[in-house]
Amino acid sequence: MNILLINGSPRKNGNSSFILDKLKEKYSGENVKELILNDLLYKGCQGCLSCRKNNSYCVVKDDLQDILPKMIENDFIVIISPNYYGFITGQIKTFLDRWYCLKDSNKMSKFNDTKVFFIVVQGASNRDHSENILDWSKKVLESFNLKYYGYTIPGCSHENHDMVQMKYPELSMHINMFVG
Ligand SMILES: Cc1cc2nc3c(=O)[nH]c(=O)nc-3n(C[C@H](O)[C@H](O)[C@H](O)COP(=O)(O)O)c2cc1C
Repeated sequence: MNILLINGSPRKNGNSSFILDKLKEKYSGENVKELILNDLLYKGCQGCLSCRKNNSYCVVKDDLQDILPKMIENDFIVIISPNYYGFITGQIKTFLDRWYCLKDSNKMSKFNDTKVFFIVVQGASNRDHSENILDWSKKVLESFNLKYYGYTIPGCSHENHDMVQMKYPELSMHINMFVG
């Protein structure tokens, strides 16, 4: 199974990084790659539609140019985003905008049988606070024909990993149920 773990937080030792490290342990025997978006240099989608018109991948020359075509080779993608002002981080939004090239000129997804597990970590203790994030990400990612599962970990402190540490077993169980 090809697995891609995507960290959308800018923090090297934050809650998202903690989860990513645990998932690397969980899937140590698998073909696992990680993408730390904050370490990459990339622009937002330029809206040129070159990808759709020419049925190609993105023509923007930056760190995503080689990464985007490989996205569709994954069987399982995990995306971890902190809640920023009630939404995902700019790193993830900008990255997902560039996925425009992952549909062909007939608006058909280039993915085939890939699953995505979308994790939100947030300071607020109320899970509803991320409802719009999960609704939005489900809609967008399902439009790429991905099988989607969304999960929020509320009550995450900026200062420690206590909550993600406590919730990780439950999160891991949800992942197992989803991936099978
Ligand atoms: C710019 C910014 C905006 C944030 N906005 C929210 C918010 O609207 N709601 C919330 O619950 N937490 C908010 N937080 C808190 C983070 O979601 C929370 O600390 C999260 O655990 C950070 O993830 P990380 O440790 O992986 O970086 C915000 C943090 C930052 C830095």
